[in-house]
Amino acid sequence: MSKISISKKTAWSLILKINTKISCNNNLVNINEDISGHKINIIFNKSNNHIENSNLRDDHEVNDLLKIFLPIVCSSKKTQFIAHIAQSLDGFIATNSGESKYISSKENLDHIHRLRAISDIIIVGANTFREDKPKLTTRLVEGNNPKIYVFDPKKILKSNQTSNIKVISDKDIMRNKFKKYKTIYIEGGGRTISYFMEKNILDRIHVCLCPIMLGGGRPSFIENKNISINNLKSYDPKHYQMGNDVLFDLKVR
Ligand SMILES: NC(=O)c1ccc[n+]([C@@H]2O[C@H](COP(=O)([O-])OP(=O)(O)OC[C@H]3O[C@@H](n4cnc5c(N)ncnc54)[C@H](OP(=O)(O)O)[C@@H]3O)[C@@H](O)[C@H]2O)c1
Repeated sequence: MSKISISKKTAWSLILKINTKISCNNNLVNINEDISGHKINIIFNKSNNHIENSNLRDDHEVNDLLKIFLPIVCSSKKTQFIAHIAQSLDGFIATNSGESKYISSKENLDHIHRLRAISDIIIVGANTFREDKPKLTTRLVEGNNPKIYVFDPKKILKSNQTSNIKVISDKDIMRNKFKKYKTIYIEGGGRTISYFMEKNILDRIHVCLCPIMLGGGRPSFIENKNISINNLKSYDPKHYQMGNDVLFDLKVR
């Protein structure tokens, strides 16, 4: 097979196409697509998340993009929950007053926008929605904006703050309100992600480790009081460089 070079932009268009159009029923996913004049052939093995064969020339950035996103867009799960959180080396996602823009790199911001673009729904916590006023769009990359849901079990938001978005509580999650959607992306904050972790709902979490120390602030994960050192779950993460940050990709379920 003669090898071709593609740009990261073309690789991203391929991932978007797989997400919406390509059937991923078998363990070996055969990808044969014509994107921007490039005939791309990839065989992706879902059982071990490995690219078995491809006609792409080795390119670090393109490889990382495919390795991060193929397991997500080719997932056989009818509904999958993915979370992302960016934290300092000492485990905080924001200062005590709630400032977090932007603790991670430009490369990680692009990654966040890509996660939005492959998702049907994005969920953020009520504190994040109220304090950050995030736009939650895909403006940095190609792809559609997901529907926005705010997780507000304590009803801290006022109705005039939520006119354009849907507000959900822990009861909606437990009622499995989202089973008609393929990919649900939880973008923080820490309390919301910890809720989904604790209820064993998350399938995958991306933890972005940023080379800064906050010395205190909002924690990325809320303390689990029942944890025992002899019972710790150990993960087998993949990791990827994003600017000066390192992204840990953890399959948790
Ligand atoms: N670095 C990043 O990647 C990143 C991403 C997003 C946001 N942020 C930052 O994160 C901060 C906000 O995060 P956060 O952890 O404070 O809040 P959050 O996750 O944005 O909001 C969670 C909301 O749900 C409630 N809640 C959570 N679990 C609950 C449960 N089991 N039962 C009942 N209510 C529950 C919380 O109430 P209580 O607060 O009363 O518990 C709160 O109202 C902001 O400063 C934002 O800038 C950082």
